[in-house]
Amino acid sequence: MSVTILNHSLIKHKLSIIRKKETKIKDFYQNVNEIAGLMAYEITRDFPLREIEIETPICKSIQYELALDVVIVPILRAGLGMVDGIRSMIPTAKIGFIGLYRDEKTLEPHEYYAKFPDITKDSIVLVVDPMLATGGSASAAISLLKEKGCKDIRYVGLVAAPDGIKRLQNDHPDVSIYLAAEDEKLNDVGYIVPGLGDCGDRLFGTK
Ligand code: PRP
Ligand code: URA
Repeated sequence: MSVTILNHSLIKHKLSIIRKKETKIKDFYQNVNEIAGLMAYEITRDFPLREIEIETPICKSIQYELALDVVIVPILRAGLGMVDGIRSMIPTAKIGFIGLYRDEKTLEPHEYYAKFPDITKDSIVLVVDPMLATGGSASAAISLLKEKGCKDIRYVGLVAAPDGIKRLQNDHPDVSIYLAAEDEKLNDVGYIVPGLGDCGDRLFGTK
């Protein structure tokens, strides 16, 4: 499936802010959310609509509303940093959660939590996580959602390494990938270069 890099000037500007090592928790969180909101605006451009009859103060009129349920599924913890921004664009979206942590040595993902609202086969599921490094976490989260019967799954991330993109395309060729940036590579401990460091730690003040 497609890989879309959202080359928007505001996204690039805000991405530079979160990449800077001196950016502190408040500005880091705010800009992650704002990028997520801008990305949601672009990604939802072609979401299906249905006609509805409404009444304006002047007359009856046929207008439009989103036809399908949208479910946002952040991968904990760092994915939580993107939820408010996307909700500000799609306030009717439901939220599910998948808790995964990456083993620091093996880089393998381990699941510790999962909770979902009702998801139908018609729901559009946005899996959100700022960092796509080896792709192990995103791939595991999407496999879990497929086991639950999700059909239309889209991955939304901020910064990706080429390895992560390849892994996701290989494991889940049916999933569209939306990113703010594709970076150069992974370093020898599995961090994205140039990246932005440990996103969960910078969002939540740990370490
Ligand atoms: C980070 C990040 C992704 C994962 C990406 O989470 O938020 O979920 O690593 O790496 P991968 O593509 O190699 O799987 P981490 O495991 O550090 O947990 P955290 O969000 O709780 O900090
Ligand atoms: N997880 C992060 O938070 N940052 C990286 O660069 C890679 C994985």
